[in-house]
Amino acid sequence: MKSTQLKDKYIEFFKSENHKKIKNSSLVPENDSTVLFTTAGMHPLVPYLLGNEHPSGKRLVNYQRCLRTGDIDEVGDDTHLTCFEMLGNWSLGDYWKEEAIKFSFEFLTGKKWLNLPVEKLAVTIFMGDKDSPKDEESSKIWLKQGIDKKKIAYLGKKDNWWGPAGQTGPCGPCSEMFYWISNEPTPERFDPTDTRWVEIWNDVFMQYNKGKNGKYSELKQKNVDTGMGFERVFTILENKKSLFETSLFEPLIKIIKKLSGLELFNDVEEISVKKIADHVRSSTFLMMDGVLPSNTDQGYILRRLIRTAIRHGRQIGISETNFCSEISNVVINTYSKEYPLLKSNKKNILNEFNKEEDKFKDSLENGLKKFNSLIKTNKISGKNAFLLFQSFGFPLEMTIELAEENGISVDTNGFDNELKKHQELSRTATKGKFGSGLADQSEEVTKLHTATHMLHAALREIVDEHIEQKGSNITPDRLRFDFNLDRKLTDEEKKKVENLVNEQIKKGLKIVKREMSVSEAKKSGAMGLFDYDGKVSVYSIGSFSKEICTGPHVENTKELGKFRIVKEKSSSAGVRRIKAVLE
Ligand code: SER
Repeated sequence: MKSTQLKDKYIEFFKSENHKKIKNSSLVPENDSTVLFTTAGMHPLVPYLLGNEHPSGKRLVNYQRCLRTGDIDEVGDDTHLTCFEMLGNWSLGDYWKEEAIKFSFEFLTGKKWLNLPVEKLAVTIFMGDKDSPKDEESSKIWLKQGIDKKKIAYLGKKDNWWGPAGQTGPCGPCSEMFYWISNEPTPERFDPTDTRWVEIWNDVFMQYNKGKNGKYSELKQKNVDTGMGFERVFTILENKKSLFETSLFEPLIKIIKKLSGLELFNDVEEISVKKIADHVRSSTFLMMDGVLPSNTDQGYILRRLIRTAIRHGRQIGISETNFCSEISNVVINTYSKEYPLLKSNKKNILNEFNKEEDKFKDSLENGLKKFNSLIKTNKISGKNAFLLFQSFGFPLEMTIELAEENGISVDTNGFDNELKKHQELSRTATKGKFGSGLADQSEEVTKLHTATHMLHAALREIVDEHIEQKGSNITPDRLRFDFNLDRKLTDEEKKKVENLVNEQIKKGLKIVKREMSVSEAKKSGAMGLFDYDGKVSVYSIGSFSKEICTGPHVENTKELGKFRIVKEKSSSAGVRRIKAVLE
């Protein structure tokens, strides 16, 4: 069966039971700012579950793209995805438990429909608590369909209650259907904790509204909201162990493995492959729905997904740049019939992947180096997690994932405090309290400021005493220094410059700051731009360098680590450009 046939069958079945097909909405909920994403098919239907009249009537059916960030950590096993499609049918105050369960049973086991064997099915039912009684009614209906008593389990709110999707709204007890996916014989008794029983469908009986006070009240009408995991059921129909082995994912996995160049994949590498497949796929859909990588809300989740995919790409040896867009291209081809928006937005989507990858790839290398230098401690401090976030673009969750892989933990409370401090600082800065705005005073940038002075001095000493700064730009992961010279540096010169800087770093030279007038600075032999009046700060690094600068700088060169030139090239006529890092 083709994947689209499963969707068609579902729609056809419910149409034959007088349901109307409704549209598949955006992953970004319209008119609802309380949640970031559409997490279930019922999401766009909340007003109607509360009692508004739906233009298509009281019986609805569709398939809906959904995204659940809560499942990110599970991705890599056989059954979880961040973005999945949900097949759903609804009764808006129309039919109730009897018909809902009958429909589910008929679609799963009916010869004309999925024709799954009854003995491989099991169900869970709400056990009851102070808010709602034990759901004996559903139990009776399932028994009537032919489900064995031993295949029914009663569970509490954690498992058998659905909603509300945000803080408040429609919700109720539910009954979930499980399928035995193993080739081993189906056990006589259902054990919901056995992972070979996979949840495939959920019938929610929405009769309550959760209010702001946390209390449940009866809704105006009794609704049914069901959701079937499309990819999971398709895995069963294709008789595969994992959804990543289905024909839906096969082309994706194939290109990822090809890009990695590895012949064999161990268990950890297999997980990386699956994470890349999932994350690039979800990101593609998010961008189709207009989300762009950023540091807030949906954009942050998108950024986190893309960057995590890039990191896992490096783990399995993908050296190619812009590999995400190649994978995304396969996603687009797989789904473009059902989602024409993918096709029309293709250029933009691929372009955004490339832009995000370009932005992240250099800082990833340096950030990983920084991370590796922190592994010796058994906990990544909040300050360091924040440094990785701010200076290297590591989403906190990525640092946590890395830390887990290395058996250490992260001080997330400390991270939150740092973030708060920074946000307060940024707010103050935007209010204009910091004159020229907020300069990046992070540890990494500060170190690179000092290293720039040392590079400048070393170039004058080794290459040419007339060398002057023509430009400088520092980001947390590298320095960039432009200087006058009308030829390429030789390899030997570059080595010598590096060695000299590193020798001086090792000496543990103190950095001393003095305020003086421009003419005094000139007289003292300080380098720098003299075209302004008044007092300037002159920073001396031992007797090695003396330069006018506004800072900030480290106190001692020992703090710098190892200096390395990564690139030397022409910048414009008569000007060369060096990029260098501290490791
Ligand atoms: N809202 C329910 C779920 O997501 C049924 O669609 O499981």
